[in-house]
Amino acid sequence: MARNQKSRSTSKSRSSGRIGSQSRTGKTTSSSKNTRNNRRSSKSSLSQKKQISLNDKLVLYLNDALSMENASMQRLQSRIKQTRLQDSKQQMEHHLEETKEQQNRLRQVISNLDGKPTKDKAQLPIPSAPKSLMNILKRHMTSAEIELKGTKEDAVVENAEIVFYDMLIQLVHKFEVEGEAVSVLTQTLDEEKSMAEWIRSNTPVMLTQLWADIEASITKKEIDEEKQVQ
Ligand SMILES: [Fe+2]
Repeated sequence: MARNQKSRSTSKSRSSGRIGSQSRTGKTTSSSKNTRNNRRSSKSSLSQKKQISLNDKLVLYLNDALSMENASMQRLQSRIKQTRLQDSKQQMEHHLEETKEQQNRLRQVISNLDGKPTKDKAQLPIPSAPKSLMNILKRHMTSAEIELKGTKEDAVVENAEIVFYDMLIQLVHKFEVEGEAVSVLTQTLDEEKSMAEWIRSNTPVMLTQLWADIEASITKKEIDEEKQVQ
């Protein structure tokens, strides 16, 4: 059986003439060695291309965080103007101040690492409905639902920030960089958590405030039918 396998493999190698084949004695041919060496060298040159100092890598990640806060600040400013719910307005004003401080702290850490703080803004991870639904949604959405949509997006952004900082802190720990960067990121993470929690716990109050408007947009017949089903 073993002999048959060997014979099959030898004849296949001979007939295909492929690089990387083994000779009848089982020794690797020189062309096979070359291929492996080439693969190894291309792999190592790839990782060499990706090599960067720890300091520079840290600056990159911190600037990535800063670009997210730059975008968040702009968004908070427009949300504060947009909302008609006083509690939300106040909370967002509070978080806007926190966000400004988060930016300042990040800028400081980046500068201390001899980096240049970015002024660019990241793309915030806000989901958007497909056009086919969006057109119908827009046609039927009340101002209360637009308010609710804004709050939903606030929650998405804050929770995305939590994921971002949580992972970044874990990565920085792996880098074994202790001190300023970790404490700055941890403080920011705590602030994002409390903002996300505020939105979550305030949602029932918000819905109570918005419900009459939403209810009024649904035809009475359907509401009565719905109540009968319940
Ligand atoms: Fe935030």
